[in-house]
Amino acid sequence: MIETPYYLIDKAKLTRNMERIAHVREKSGAKALLALKCFATWSVFDLMRDYMDGTTSSSLFEVRLGRERFGKETHAYSVAYGDNEIDEVVSHADKIIFNSISQLERFADKAAGIARGLRLNPQVSSSSFDLADPARPFSRLGEWDVPKVERVMDRINGFMIHNNCENKDFGLFDRMLGEIEERFGALIARVDWVSLGGGIHFTRDDYPVDAFSARLRAFSDRYGVQIYLEPGEASITKSTTLEVTVLDTLYNGKNLAIVDSSIEAHMLDLLIYRETAKVLPNEGSHSYMICGKSCLAGDVFGEFRFAEELKVGDRISFQDAAGYTMVKKNWFNGVKMPAIAIRELDGSVRTVREFTYADYEQSLS
Ligand SMILES: Cc1ncc(COP(=O)(O)O)c(C=O)c1O
Repeated sequence: MIETPYYLIDKAKLTRNMERIAHVREKSGAKALLALKCFATWSVFDLMRDYMDGTTSSSLFEVRLGRERFGKETHAYSVAYGDNEIDEVVSHADKIIFNSISQLERFADKAAGIARGLRLNPQVSSSSFDLADPARPFSRLGEWDVPKVERVMDRINGFMIHNNCENKDFGLFDRMLGEIEERFGALIARVDWVSLGGGIHFTRDDYPVDAFSARLRAFSDRYGVQIYLEPGEASITKSTTLEVTVLDTLYNGKNLAIVDSSIEAHMLDLLIYRETAKVLPNEGSHSYMICGKSCLAGDVFGEFRFAEELKVGDRISFQDAAGYTMVKKNWFNGVKMPAIAIRELDGSVRTVREFTYADYEQSLS
């Protein structure tokens, strides 16, 4: 028995997503790059590598991890590069995408040996949450002025556009791509590749993958471009759980159970986006608010139903715990960081990383 807390990545479930991605690649001709910002647990890259074309990144460290641990095609992007990192970034990348014209102008020569692209911001997105909306007013994420972009076309041969956020609606994807074509079509026809970013939930059971693939193929035929997709969440959705143990129960007007983990430290995105964790089957006559062990008053995973009363020592699995969790975990309150374990295709489970007091101590000075 592995000591909780730990993230448990199930390779069979991961393979299911990978097969969908491979299907879309084959039908559409698009290439798929894993977005490391979402998931960078390299112990399963040996499996993912067979189904995906490479990785994309948001920083020097991510592009290096992509090159060293995943291999294949490696894209570099960052909201802004510093003078002290650009040479190393270029040394790890096959393509570099600049976020602004000024970054492109500043670093174009240093990146002359690899393909260069520019991020476009179409000022339309599928996000309803301001914090995550790349098209929010005054957004710094990409350029949108066509005449300005025209003036630097001699220095780039591709674009990146990331405007889908948790978008499970193919119709909305299609309409927004149509708007992008209207606005930037003439520019797109002049480049060799376009990355459509992440945020498209095309590995869901109910997503019309064939219509999606046909739309991508039509786009790439119309403009003569290689399309890239940058799936983060879609690559790893529903592949992983966070395994925790009940440490205490109490009644303060509601049944409360405190577990050996923390939403603030181990599933931070849920807290940021005001979502609750998922527990299955979430049925039964006993309702509990499941709380984390940090001192934060709102360290609450959610309220769930259980068949039996919870008692100290009971195990709970939070579902869908791969995306934006392990890459964001932190040492708040010195709470023990969850280990990382993998369920192999033969059913055996092995721990691939444990975190100790030394890791906590070493993260500070
Ligand atoms: C440029 C870019 N590509 C890819 C992604 C991955 O998005 P997701 O995990 O929603 O697929 C993001 C997420 O913010 C992004 O900003």
